[in-house]
Amino acid sequence: MSASHRAVAIDGPAASGKSTVAKCLAARLGLIMVNSGAMYRAVTWQILQDGILPSDQDAVIQAFERMKIICGVEDGVSTISVNGRMLSSELRTPAVNENVSTLASFSKLREGLVAMQRAYLESDDVVMEGRDIGSVVFPETPFKIYIDASEEVRAARRSKDGEADVVAERDAQDSQREASPLKISEGAIVIDSSSLTIDQTVLAAQEALIELGWED
Ligand code: DC
Repeated sequence: MSASHRAVAIDGPAASGKSTVAKCLAARLGLIMVNSGAMYRAVTWQILQDGILPSDQDAVIQAFERMKIICGVEDGVSTISVNGRMLSSELRTPAVNENVSTLASFSKLREGLVAMQRAYLESDDVVMEGRDIGSVVFPETPFKIYIDASEEVRAARRSKDGEADVVAERDAQDSQREASPLKISEGAIVIDSSSLTIDQTVLAAQEALIELGWED
């Protein structure tokens, strides 16, 4: 980890509320919020655009190595463009939801994206959310939070957002894969957001950070 910049790692299953919490927390603390899932989604979107079979690992990796991926920041939140196209709503299509966990199980792809995730810390303090942030991306950070919610609550949140997403299936794939599976990192404080509002969850995350030694 960079000596001068701090990383807050927020991990958790799909639709646990971690993106919203990470965004609010980053704004309150004046840090950059990085959505690492968007990177896996961006590659998945491009692979589908190119007509490559998501399960064809060799073809996916070859295409990934040719992609021009630019990770940036706008209004304190990470952005991503692939081959010159800035991606946002494209990242949440049903086809991307359905295939992203397959690509996220390819370790060569993970290595490439983890390097891009770590690069954010070279210039900024960050709140980064994902599945392996506390375990693989920034294992040395003391600031690790795991946000959970019951399966019913998570599925309900996704359909309320109007999104077709196979939350339970993605979680099973993300937790059972060999490469950097979703898990609670050692030292992480777990927050169950099932019966909490966004504000209450952000407050709980702020309290967790203080417990972990965070100082403004
Ligand atoms: O957080 P999200 O739902 O947007 O993430 C999309 C997928 O990307 C998720 O199903 C698993 C994968 N992912 C990952 O493997 N590691 C991360 N750090 C972030 C996301």
